[in-house]
Amino acid sequence: MDRYAVIGHPIGHSKSPLIHALFARATGQTLDYTAIEAPPDGFAAAVDAFRAAGGRGLNVTLPFKVEACAYADEVSPRARVAGAANALAFDDGRCRADNFDGVGLVRDLEVNLGQPLAGRRVLVLGAGGAARGALPALLEAAPVALVVANRSPAKAEALAQALQDQGFGHGVLAACGYAELAAQPPFDVVINATAASLGDEPLPLPPAVFTPATLAYDMVYGKGLTAFLRQARAAGATRLADGLGMLVEQAAESFAWWRGVRPDTRAVIERLAVPLT
Ligand code: ATR
Repeated sequence: MDRYAVIGHPIGHSKSPLIHALFARATGQTLDYTAIEAPPDGFAAAVDAFRAAGGRGLNVTLPFKVEACAYADEVSPRARVAGAANALAFDDGRCRADNFDGVGLVRDLEVNLGQPLAGRRVLVLGAGGAARGALPALLEAAPVALVVANRSPAKAEALAQALQDQGFGHGVLAACGYAELAAQPPFDVVINATAASLGDEPLPLPPAVFTPATLAYDMVYGKGLTAFLRQARAAGATRLADGLGMLVEQAAESFAWWRGVRPDTRAVIERLAVPLT
């Protein structure tokens, strides 16, 4: 049986084995998908062992997404721009890397949540790996403005500059600190890509970034109403979403890349969704 897995540290919380089992059942594919916890300094050794045992593909999660890019023989353009990969495929002794986080996010926003991005004002909070993975796909969706705000503004500026140096986001992409957002018009979509939700900490965001029509999107999932979503609601936003749809959509892209069949995602999202209360 073809073997796949998700690799990370920690990995106990991962919903990927269940998602891929549901995809396999729905598409009539026969495969085995497990979770591998690698020690922080043991990514390459764990991947080598998985390949030696006949593994065909891996999803990669924290903290190994940057290392996954370095490990691969071939890296897709979008994974190269992000500097991080979340999926590996092994064939004929070669390792290919891609990054489906950004397309997964855009699909969740546009298709599942009915929020077009073209011509809209989009705010991304955070300038770490999660933001970096999402920005190329968000820019391809043609927003009129994409602002990256971060606690350390210099990190957001460096990220925006790096993307612009690679030909992305001219005239659209801007970077700043949180306080500077108060001087800007409100946003249609505000995406939390910081690690603050993991600690359930609110961000120092001016309430004026939100309107009642703003979609507030937290990339974390399974935590109900995070501090970010609560602060968006308190500031008047009525449309709130967590990152479950992004997780399921990037999984579907990985599945299609490996198996040549794109599974339906809606039933899986409905099955795994946790109410935002
Ligand atoms: P990841 O790969 O998950 O994005 P990371 O590269 O460590 O992780 O980046 C974490 C992001 O969350 C950064 O943007 C970080 O802000 P700084 O660059 O200023 O450190 C942000 N972050 C983490 N905890 C935060 C907090 N309590 N408040 C605001 N931002 C936070």
